[in-house]
Amino acid sequence: MNLILLGAPGAGKGTQAEVICAAKGIPAISTGNMLREAVKNGTESGLAAKKYMDAGELVPDEVVIGILKDRIAEPDCKGGFILDGFPRTVPQAEALEKMGVNIDKVIEIYVPDEKIAERLGGRRVCESCGNSYHVVYKPTKVEGVCDACGGRVVIRKDDEPATVLERLKVYHEKTAPLKDFYEKRGKLRTVVGQEEVAETSRLTLEAVNA
Ligand code: AP5
Repeated sequence: MNLILLGAPGAGKGTQAEVICAAKGIPAISTGNMLREAVKNGTESGLAAKKYMDAGELVPDEVVIGILKDRIAEPDCKGGFILDGFPRTVPQAEALEKMGVNIDKVIEIYVPDEKIAERLGGRRVCESCGNSYHVVYKPTKVEGVCDACGGRVVIRKDDEPATVLERLKVYHEKTAPLKDFYEKRGKLRTVVGQEEVAETSRLTLEAVNA
C-alpha cells in the first residue's frame, strides 16, 4: 500500500505517519526529516535546502524529487510506504506519476489555520532522532528528554511564529492545489484533525482501511 499524507504544516502528518507505520508495518518517509538530516550532515542537498527551510519556503522541486526517488528505491519500500510531506507541488506529484509509482490513497488531515499556531508553538522535536512531541498534547515522559532515544528535545527553527505564517501561505498557494489533483483521480480522503491525537489516529486508520 502506497499512501500520501497531505495537510498544512503542523496538521499532524508526522504524528499520524508514525501511527500508520506501526499499524501497517510500512515505512514512513518524511522529506522534511530527510532534509533536516541532510542539513545536519552538511551534504550537498542539505546545503542547497537550508536557506529555503529556514525561511519557510519550499526547497526546489529537483532537489526534493531526487532525494525521494533514491529513498523509495530502497528495499524496505518494496511492500509500500507512507509519504509525509511529499508531494508538495503539482510538479512533484507529476514526477511521482512519471516514476511509475501507484498511489492507493491520499489522506488529507484538515486543521484550520487558527489551530496551527497553537500546535506548532507547543511542538518540541528530538535533535537526535527527530521524534515529535507537544508540550500539552503529547509531552515527553521526562521534560526536555526524548522518550525514544534520550536525546535533547528542542524547538524547531522553522516553528518561529513569523516562519509559521510564511509556511501556511506557501501551503495554500503551492500545496493545497494537490487536493484537486488527487480528487480528480479518485484518491483523496479527508480526515478532520481532532483535539485528541488518539481520536485523529482512529479516524486516520479508518480512512486508510476503508
Ligand atoms: P516538514 O518537516 O514536512 O514540515 P511541515 O509540512 O511544515 O509539517 P510539520 O512537520 O511542521 O507538521 P506535521 O503535519 O508533520 O505535524 P506534526 O505531526 O509534527 O517540512 C519542513 C520544510 O522542509 C518545509 O518548510 C520545506 O522547506 C522543506 N520540504 C519538506 N518537504 C518538501 C517538499 N516535498 N518540497 C519542497 N520542500 C520540502 O504535529 C504538529 C504538532 O501538533 C506536534 O507537536 C504534535 O504533537 C501536535 N499534534 C499532532 N496531532 C495533534 C492532535 N490531533 N491534537 C493536538 N496536537 C496534535
